[in-house]
Formats: sequence, structure tokens, C-alpha cells
Amino acid sequence: MEKIRIYGGHELNGHIDISGAKNAALPLMTAAILTGEPLTLNRVPDLKDVGSLCAVLNKLGVKTAYDPASKRMTLDATNITSCVAPYELVSQMRASILVLGPLLARHGEAKVSLPGGCAIGSRPVDLHIDGLAQMGAEISLEDGYINAKAPAGGLKGAQIHFAKVSVGATENLLMAATLAKGTTVLFNAAREPEIVDLGECLIAMGADIQGLGTDKITIRGVSALKGITHAVVADRIEAGTFIMAAAMTGGTLTLNHADNRHIHYLLEPLHKAGVSLTENEAEHSITVKRVRDRLRGIDVMTEPYPGFPTDLQAQLMSMLTIAEGAGMVTETIFENRFMHAPELIRMGANITVHGSSALVRGVPMLKGADVMATDLRASVSLVLAGLVAKGATTVHRIYHLDRGYENIVEKLSGVGAKLERLKEEAA
Ligand code: UD1
Repeated sequence: MEKIRIYGGHELNGHIDISGAKNAALPLMTAAILTGEPLTLNRVPDLKDVGSLCAVLNKLGVKTAYDPASKRMTLDATNITSCVAPYELVSQMRASILVLGPLLARHGEAKVSLPGGCAIGSRPVDLHIDGLAQMGAEISLEDGYINAKAPAGGLKGAQIHFAKVSVGATENLLMAATLAKGTTVLFNAAREPEIVDLGECLIAMGADIQGLGTDKITIRGVSALKGITHAVVADRIEAGTFIMAAAMTGGTLTLNHADNRHIHYLLEPLHKAGVSLTENEAEHSITVKRVRDRLRGIDVMTEPYPGFPTDLQAQLMSMLTIAEGAGMVTETIFENRFMHAPELIRMGANITVHGSSALVRGVPMLKGADVMATDLRASVSLVLAGLVAKGATTVHRIYHLDRGYENIVEKLSGVGAKLERLKEEAA
């Protein structure tokens, strides 16, 4: 077990290279199941979640080769030898559910554990299951597993109306529909850039897809897909995290290889808070600079893309803890996603949670403390708080951080932050 100790009070100045997006890389890796030819992905971030998904794919017979230096991954699903994604592997990462659609589409059968700690009802996958059932799959839930079988002749095109906008369900159904008989239309589909990236890769593989980036996606099934090479889109959540880090610490930070189009939802709220973001389209970079002595409190509500992302909510709350005046953060995507609030309060923040909203009254200064990370984005919000707190902050259980942030200690150290990764002493 490791922890990170941060010594607060240092400005961030210089350049950070943004990695490929975790949330694009994971679905793209599962798309390899759809073809008997090798799929090569460039710009795959070296993350624990990527390794966990490789383990799931290997179990199915997909051969994977990853070179962390070049960030290139090759996936070869010529021989699918099993259709079972077991609990021990799926429980490590919810995104493993994304093997369900591709397996059913190409292999005709899938047995996938329900994601760890999840029961249908609390962290449901009902939209994934209902959509596949509408495409003719026979699905039963047994002993914590989803057992699914495609009809003879394969999945059939369907008109699928999602009751709720879901990134994962849109991705699963989009992949399943590429090899189905006939046309599938996804209504109320999610519009995230990571879905567009997946769709563009599928089109290059030979799929017939229209409407990517809109809430109505039309897919005409084809008989087979081919292997290609595709580069993973930039991680807009990593970029947003570093933007808020620079806004909090001060200094001038440039993020290279970011895709600025996907950061536009940050421009207005951050401008209101007193942050200038200057885009350089030619170099795909964005420069962040705080233009006030102290940030200003703002109100933000999380929404599906192109709204403010739930995956930046914790970092924004951290930023508001030191702003002038009050700000309100409303979380509409996930229940109970304020686990970082009590930890920030331990550092001197003034936060009151009322249901799905948190009122953050800015304080002049946070104080270093021992804090515990409870999920990926909560962990990084505590690192951000540590960057501006007086004294040392130790973030424990950083396992979560390694799931989604590539080389975060090195990246932040490279622009002037003082932080180190330490071994957790045995109790
Ligand atoms: C993805 C992202 C995650 C992000 C989330 C919302 C990946 C690997 N993960 O997660 O980082 O926080 O989008 O932007 O890309 N829901 C249902 N039934 C379902 C599926 C979802 O009710 O069958 C609900 C969820 O409980 C949640 C909402 O829909 O309240 C959105 O979830 P969804 O978009 O599916 O999130 P993920 O795809 O799991």
C-alpha cells in the first residue's frame, strides 16, 4: 500500500503532456473482440484499469501486448476461447461490463459477472441488459452473473430508447449493433467525446454508424469488422484536473496534446471563477492562468456531456474551498458522490452537504492533514487540496489514483509541485 505526501504552497509553472483518455481506452480495448484481426491502439495510458481490463480480455482468449514506453497496445481476438468474465476480475473494475455487447455480437454468448459491489437497483446495468434484450438476446441473471445468448443468426437491429443517458450502455449497444442483422437506432444516447472516439474507431474498422456526438445514433449492421490502428483521444478529465490545480496554486501552466474542443464546458465556469484559459489550436495546447489574487465562488451542476462532468466535480469542490465567497456544487449523475467532502473538511474546508448539493464557503487557507481517498476522482481532489494547504498533507490509499492518473507524481513534480510517493508503514 502506498501514500502520497504533498508539501503545499508551490505555484505550478511549465508544461504537462496530457495522456490518452482512460475512459476512451477501455471501451476501445473491448472493441477488439468484434474482429478476428489485430486491433492496434496508440496513446493507451499506462494505468491500473488498463491492466485490469487486459486480464479480463486475456481470460476470454484475447491476446494483448502493451509497450508502456510507446503507449502502443495490440489486441488479437482471433480465437475467443471463453465467454466468461469472472467475478474476481470484473469486481476490480466496473467498465469490464463493456465486454458484454461485443462478446454477444461476435461470439453469440456471454457470461459476465455483475460489476463488483453492485446490485441491480443501486449501481445498475439495467440499460445495458434491456437494450441487448431488445436486440433479441436471451438474458438471465443467476448467481451474480449475467447470462446472455444471441438468437440463432445473431443479434437483430432494434430501436432502443434509453430511459436515462448512460455512457457505458451507449457504448455496449453501439458495439453490439455493429455486427447485428439490420439497423439499430439508439435514442437518448450519450454524447461524450470518448463515445465519438469509439465510434470513429469502429467506422475505420468497417462499421456503418451515423449520428456520433448526437443523442440519436444509427448503426447499420455489417457482416464483419477488420483490424486497424487507432489513437486514443486526449483525456479531458486529466486536463480539467490540471487546469484546476493551476487555478488553485497560481502560476502559468500549459497542457500539451489536450483536445481543446472537449474542454469548452470548463471555459465559462472557470472564467467566472477568475481563471483565464488560452487555447492554441495549432499545437493542441491550452494555457491556464489565474487572473485574480483569489478565485471567486461559483455554482456548478454536473450533467451528461456537454454539461459539466461528474468526473471533475470533486476537483471543482476542492478548488472552491479556497475561493472568495460561496459556491454550490450539485451532483445529478451519481448519488453519494461527495465522499471527498468530509476529508476536505478535515483540512479546514467549510462545506455543508444537503442531499445532492454541497455549499462550499471559501476559507483563506487549508491546512495539511492525513486524509483518505475513497474513489478515483475523490483521491485527486485531495491531492489538489494538498497542493495549496499549509504544511504537509498525506493522502492514504492512493490505489484509486493509480487506476486513472498516469504518472501524476512525476507530472506535478515536473511543474514545481513538491510531493512524493511513500510506502505505507505496516500497522
Ligand atoms: C462512465 C465513466 C465514468 C463517469 C460516468 C458518467 C467510463 C469507463 N466511466 O461510467 O468515469 O463518471 O460515465 O459520466 O467511461 N445507470 C443506470 N442504469 C444503467 C447504467 C447506468 O441507471 O444500466 C445510471 C448510473 O447509475 C448513473 C447514470 O446512469 O446514475 C450514468 O451512468 P453511466 O453514464 O452509465 O456511467 P458509466 O458508463 O458507468
